[in-house]
Amino acid sequence: MSSKSFKRTLVTSALPYTNGPIHIGHLAGAYLPADMHVRYLRLSGQDVVYVCGSDEFGVAILIQAMQNGITARDVIDRYHPLIRDSFAAFGISFDHYSRTSKEVHIKTSQEFFQHLADKNEFVLKREEHLYDPVAQVFLADRFVCGECPYCGYEHAYGDQCERCGASLSPTEIKNPRSTLTDAVPELRETTHWYLPLGKWQTQLEQYIAQHPEWKPNVLGQIGAWFSDGLRDRAITRDVPWGVAVPQKAADVAGVNAEGKVIYVWFDAPIGYISSTKEWAASQGDPDLWKLYWQDDESRLIHFIGKDNIVFHTLMFPAMLMAHGGYVVPDQVPANEFLNIEGAKLSTSRGWAVWLHEYLEDFPPDLLRYSLATILPESKDSDFNWYEFQAKVNSELADILGNFVHRALTFAEREFDNKVPPLSALSEADQAALDELAEFPHKIGDAYQQFRFREAVRMTMNVARLGNKYFNDQTPWITRKSDPSQCANTIHISLQICAALSVFMDPVLPFSAEKLRRMIGLDGVRSSTPSRNSSDMIDWNQAGTPLLPVGHALGSREILFHKITDDQIQIQMAKLNTSSSEQEPIPYAETKPEIVYDDFAKMDFRTGKILSAEPVPKSKRLLKLEVDLGFETRQILAGVAEHFQPKEMVGRSVVVVANLAPRKMMGLESQGMVLMAEDPLGNLSLVSSESDPGSVVC
Ligand code: 2FM
Ligand code: ZN
Repeated sequence: MSSKSFKRTLVTSALPYTNGPIHIGHLAGAYLPADMHVRYLRLSGQDVVYVCGSDEFGVAILIQAMQNGITARDVIDRYHPLIRDSFAAFGISFDHYSRTSKEVHIKTSQEFFQHLADKNEFVLKREEHLYDPVAQVFLADRFVCGECPYCGYEHAYGDQCERCGASLSPTEIKNPRSTLTDAVPELRETTHWYLPLGKWQTQLEQYIAQHPEWKPNVLGQIGAWFSDGLRDRAITRDVPWGVAVPQKAADVAGVNAEGKVIYVWFDAPIGYISSTKEWAASQGDPDLWKLYWQDDESRLIHFIGKDNIVFHTLMFPAMLMAHGGYVVPDQVPANEFLNIEGAKLSTSRGWAVWLHEYLEDFPPDLLRYSLATILPESKDSDFNWYEFQAKVNSELADILGNFVHRALTFAEREFDNKVPPLSALSEADQAALDELAEFPHKIGDAYQQFRFREAVRMTMNVARLGNKYFNDQTPWITRKSDPSQCANTIHISLQICAALSVFMDPVLPFSAEKLRRMIGLDGVRSSTPSRNSSDMIDWNQAGTPLLPVGHALGSREILFHKITDDQIQIQMAKLNTSSSEQEPIPYAETKPEIVYDDFAKMDFRTGKILSAEPVPKSKRLLKLEVDLGFETRQILAGVAEHFQPKEMVGRSVVVVANLAPRKMMGLESQGMVLMAEDPLGNLSLVSSESDPGSVVC
């Protein structure tokens, strides 16, 4: 956290595009971590509001509509309820979930735009843009596809290349085609509003410099944008779906506003503001949103996936600074991506686990827990169904569920289902209570600092503490040999269960509630948006005994049911079926034929990587020292998004040893390391068992 202290927090999760259902990649990126953070804050008695909503404009939605012969309104009306309900079923506990097609949002975005126009914060540019002569529309963003000017990928879109990640504009695309009609676009003149981001660079650099605590993956991306230099960004489009450019701004500029809309990445973050406005109105205090957005003592946190970093750390802050009177984000804890079974998640290929489908087979908490243990906090991570099963069976059921079951069964059989008395504490009893008292602070710190995997691991350590204490105390022996010691053991075990029912709440909210029912524990603060009173049990009290002697326990249930191999095989088959039902994965085309002499010119050698380190200001490059036996080479490889430097050290590789040296980012690359790229874009090293320097022929 920055050194500043805050009175209240506004948390947002990226507004999901409303052109498809929600999958586990979404959940692991921007929603589950945010929900855990917010639930922790609510349990700790802090003032927090959590908003989100459906992102309903933009070209992607229009394309989806056109491909299906329906309107954009049909698309959003179909997916908005599905998305909203999936979030609710997974316990994503928004204070408010809105949609950007609402009047409040359209008005808020237009007012924001107009305010910036009035302050002369925009630049107007008349330029040539791509135009589809068949469909008779300008081709913005994804309406254009063609070759990426940076990596040559042939299916790059007008706004982004999905292979190399480059951010593009439609006119940069080589051999462009219209995605609407496949027509070759023409150039036509049109006028657009631009946000001159370059003007804000110094101020943005100063702002980011105040946040050395931000995650390295976030700061890394920002650094690369700064070193490239921030450029003007067009914030209007000629497309028939979006928030209309305000008439007043158009009149003043002398531009015909017809058909011109605000770019979706300008209006979407304003959606956070309009959602807060709706929430405030629902609280009976329509001005309350201002407290969260315009008061210096309010902390703004945006949870997002890594593809949204630039918009939340540079563009939206610049918009807020240009407007004036708003707080800027204090944290943007962006996550990397989640893969499935070792391959990139792909909705078009059906390689995804959809939340609404998952819920047909399993309760939400199981996925919440297993995802929380593998969140892509610092690098991409992998979801795997067998690991999911192992986590549920050997952690949730065998450690947490089993401990609760043992404590409650004993209490029922030996102590009339009541909390037994505590007397003359043994050293072990005291040690268990002391250890328990440390957890609110330890787990709480991890939640506060966005270290969710660690928070969940420590939560499970509370159950481990319970199991160890229970085993060491052997109550099944002391029940006869030392009944008061047995009573102590069960008393303390029940207190650990009660503490667990609070500590596990952010990650396992449904099971936490069930556990509280089982032990009859009332009066704990709710981690959902409900009215909590100050006399309720909060997070920090959960490390102290919560159940009085003689307290009547509730009735036992099974906290977590184990998952069978058959259940997992069904999920695997679903994944494979949905994958093969979709378009086949395209293999790269083979290159034009060469003759043997062309091949013979190439000198491939085996090598061993001696060291690997990131190249400053580059998202893609790693600097490698490679031992070729006869000499050591410095080679720059574009693999930083696929490998951690430390994973590469010591690996054997094949190198093109006679490639002319090239300079990249001011460093010389003396050769090239060979990689294999599968059709899903996953990279692996090409290796050899021979000693460094061997000729590959
Ligand atoms: O990437 C996405 O799904 C975007 N719809 C996120 C928008 S976040 C915000 F700015 F609203
Ligand atoms: Zn590219």
